Amino acid sequence: MFPGFQLLPEQASTLAPRVDNLYFFIVAVTAFFAVAVTVAVIVFAVKYRTDDPLAVGASIHGSIPLELAWSIIPFVISLVIFAWASDVFFDLQRPPNQTLEIYATAKRWMWKFQHIDGQNEINELHVPVGRAVKVTFTSEDVLHSMFFPAFRVKADAIPGRYSSVWFQATKIGEYHLFCAEYCGTSHSGMIGKVVVMEPSAYQAWLSGGAVGGSLAARGEQLFNDLACNTCHLSDGKGRGPSLVNTFGAPVQLSNGSVVTMNESYVRESILTPQLKLVAGYQPLMPTFQGLLTEENVMALVEYVKTLHAPGAGVSTVSAAGPGETPPPAAQENR
Ligand code: CUA
Repeated sequence: MFPGFQLLPEQASTLAPRVDNLYFFIVAVTAFFAVAVTVAVIVFAVKYRTDDPLAVGASIHGSIPLELAWSIIPFVISLVIFAWASDVFFDLQRPPNQTLEIYATAKRWMWKFQHIDGQNEINELHVPVGRAVKVTFTSEDVLHSMFFPAFRVKADAIPGRYSSVWFQATKIGEYHLFCAEYCGTSHSGMIGKVVVMEPSAYQAWLSGGAVGGSLAARGEQLFNDLACNTCHLSDGKGRGPSLVNTFGAPVQLSNGSVVTMNESYVRESILTPQLKLVAGYQPLMPTFQGLLTEENVMALVEYVKTLHAPGAGVSTVSAAGPGETPPPAAQENR
């Protein structure tokens, strides 16, 4: 009918058909009732029409079965939508255990991607097909929103906070990347593409343009350059807590609460160290707010993630496979 016209973007991730099925179900239910009500209005208007201007309608005093029916049926339909949507939502929110980690920053008006092996890309993202990919990102200025229509995933990029999306591409090809939150003059130009490749082609691409070593190696360099290593000793006897084997584990804070050591907590502790102080330590750490770029913060976060054995450092990155960060659970089991 309209060549080249598609109602929805291509389905190119494992979650895309599931999101679409739910969407079509909700549209179908809505359309069914819209049509049923419209047809009933027209049929009754025709059937009970009268030319008598003084006619008065019959007085009706309700019907228990009818009222129960129009309460219970919509209630059941809503619950079906709720349960189905929750199932899809949780899978969208929870990445699988083994993911390929990629960092990104949004700024007016571009997307900057950082692979943990060291490659940088702007407005382009290369990923392998058939592998779960998690993108952790923040914004350097205003609100943006990372949207991969073909993967049916979207999340806001929020200044001062990490967000993440995950997807597993199912088809080789190039797909759109959009900014889906109005962010100023060139918002409409804040677009890019994601290139889904065969794993072997992806490996070849990865070994292409690495500059300055892996992200974790850069993080380790910063960790030494900024003298973090003088306080965060790996034996736990430093002025700051040891960071070895901590990623993904709970942290007891001085105010009595417990947080999980995740990307956001590490970032927050670098930029506002006094905010959530680890129990048993003095508030000695200086803030690095304004002194580190988001890329540098990501490098430090990635370095902390790789510290999962005494004396461990960047060397463990290769043991986990190229571009692979073991999930927190796997780290704890080592
Ligand atoms: Cu960035 Cu709109």
